[in-house]
Amino acid sequence: MKKIILSGAILAGLIIGCRQLPTQPDNSIIEPMLPAVAFDYAHINSPYGKLSLYYEDSTLIDSKKATIGRVLFYDKALSHNNSTSCASCHIQANGFADVTAFSVGFNGQPTKRNSLSISNLFDVRKTGYFWDTRESKIEEMVFKPIEDHIEMGFENISLITEKISNLPYYKKLFKDCYGDELITQERMRESLGQFLFSIVNANSKFDRGQKNNFADFTTNEKNGMNLFVENGCSECHFIHTSFSPAGAERDKMANIGLDVSDKDKGKEHQYRIPDLRNVANTAPYMHDGRFTTLNQVVNHYGFNVQPNPYLSEELKNKKPNIPPSNYAGTNNSDIANFLKTLNDDFTTVNERYSNPFKN
Ligand code: HEC
Ligand code: HEC
Repeated sequence: MKKIILSGAILAGLIIGCRQLPTQPDNSIIEPMLPAVAFDYAHINSPYGKLSLYYEDSTLIDSKKATIGRVLFYDKALSHNNSTSCASCHIQANGFADVTAFSVGFNGQPTKRNSLSISNLFDVRKTGYFWDTRESKIEEMVFKPIEDHIEMGFENISLITEKISNLPYYKKLFKDCYGDELITQERMRESLGQFLFSIVNANSKFDRGQKNNFADFTTNEKNGMNLFVENGCSECHFIHTSFSPAGAERDKMANIGLDVSDKDKGKEHQYRIPDLRNVANTAPYMHDGRFTTLNQVVNHYGFNVQPNPYLSEELKNKKPNIPPSNYAGTNNSDIANFLKTLNDDFTTVNERYSNPFKN
């Protein structure tokens, strides 16, 4: 009995806790380490040549804004209790996804869905953000996790500019970028958005292959690519991104027959078709992180697609022709090897996307 009363008290404490004023940063403030001249976030080298990177409707990315965005992305001060940053659940080495099925938020509570990897948002913006495509404006989207009662818990969002203004390093960054020290929500939203849009995966082995007829591909990778196309994977997962303001037109959502009894019905029983760039690093997979290896994913498409009224046309009455070696065991099957060619080390290791608060 005592136990029940106690946990009730703790629960009430947690609920009230969220509504309390955000914890101010303490005295041990760490300054971000930034280059003297901002990284060039507006361009990247790729097999297609030097690409210009755009934000929203074809505004060239502003490197100073993206720099502020980088600092905000890694700053735990954006959470209610200084425990959690965006990067807590979007880890660079993992294609900006998380390594657990459900991420842990500022109060130790799990998120309801698997963290999505972040890349090529210029294309994602056309489908809508999140697993259910519910958000279509990046500047609306970037504050959702900050305010979320599980993720970062900053419920009284009007106090965020005051809290951020108390951190000495932002004044200089905002002045340098916007001409004055004023820190507004609009500027924060824009700079976070600019940083996210600068994370572009266009320098993968696959991209090099597109330019040289896949001359560097191993036999396994070529087999995997053929299986990917022959089995209709590419009908949903577009891998030829255009990297230009024209963007690639892609399907939005699909039901792939994961399981009929799933309590999370998604949006009309469908989920966003995820970008497969960097996918070898973004395990676990699916909206609920149920699969830990690429072979388990392929096994699903080969064996376990559950018929249901919402199942996508592409997967109805289709007999996949995937050799069994792709299903079990290691991640060295043909399809998995092909999917690994979609990785771009530039996004997963380059300093310009890394944590400036380290060292
Ligand atoms: C506690 C973990 C957590 C934190 C902290 C977090 N996120 Fe997320 N993020 C998620 C999860 C989980 C999803 C998928 C949610 C969904 O689809 O319902 C997601 C989705 C996203 C997406 C959508 C990507 C796409 O392709 O649609 C973006 C962009 C994003 N987060 C950016 C951010 C930013 C910016 C911050 C910091 C301001 C942040 N996240 C903080 C867990 C987190
Ligand atoms: C009808 C469209 C469609 C087809 C065809 C399709 N997929 Fe998917 N794929 C999806 C959707 C939607 C999801 C997310 C489902 C969810 O989480 O509920 C997904 C998820 C994935 C994931 C996990 C990505 C992540 O980040 O979690 C991988 C890997 C994948 N598919 C590979 C494949 C392969 C390989 C094939 C071909 C054998 C294939 N897909 C065929 C729509 C499709």
